Amino acid sequence: MLERIDVHNHLLPNLDDGCSSSAESFECIRTLQASGYSRLFVTPHTGPTDICSIRPEESQRHFDLFVASARRAGIDVEFKLGGEVRLSPELLRMGDLSLAVTYGVTSHFCLVDIWEPDWPSWAQDNINWLIANGRTVIVAHPERMPAMQKDPALMDRLARQGVLFQGNLGPLGGSEPEPVRILAERFLREGRYFMLGTDCHRPSHLQARLAGLQRAEEILGETAVHQLTFANPLTIWNAA
Ligand SMILES: [Fe+2]
Repeated sequence: MLERIDVHNHLLPNLDDGCSSSAESFECIRTLQASGYSRLFVTPHTGPTDICSIRPEESQRHFDLFVASARRAGIDVEFKLGGEVRLSPELLRMGDLSLAVTYGVTSHFCLVDIWEPDWPSWAQDNINWLIANGRTVIVAHPERMPAMQKDPALMDRLARQGVLFQGNLGPLGGSEPEPVRILAERFLREGRYFMLGTDCHRPSHLQARLAGLQRAEEILGETAVHQLTFANPLTIWNAA
């Protein structure tokens, strides 16, 4: 079976809107492991605002406890901590780079999301600030973001700045409305994704994610999907 690395999930329990118990997390991890996932970055929401107001120290404390409990439960996948940083005016105003948690905490790869209906100037200012501070910005699930749905040319502009994109497997497996699935397939065919992640929050998410993995292979072939679910994530894993 091909080895894979997950780059986006909310499997760290009792922290954000993801798994609500270790049992749920272990169930997700065992299922992913059966599909080849042997290394997982866990990426809780982080940043200064709303549901994302989880301090990096808090993520780290949860992570250390969770890894220890996973080992006791006999789970033998490798874990590294990351985060999904919510872009916001506050993030820039606070100017605290430690809130922009990166993969492995010490790497320069930073996963971000934003749910604004358009692309406000502060969003671009956030990205410019991260890049100016040496971060490689990776925008999560552009296919689900209203700003990218309305204006895929925005992705071209960001790509010219060196921004990378992480697609979600869920839409490819039917987890979202049909227009999102169509857009995800288009982005996949156009080669816009640097990597694909599960963005799994709970066991009920898994069926669509694994169906998405299969669908991606139907579209691109096994080798290209392995690049997006292992080889490219491995460059981040090795930097983290
Ligand atoms: Fe997420």
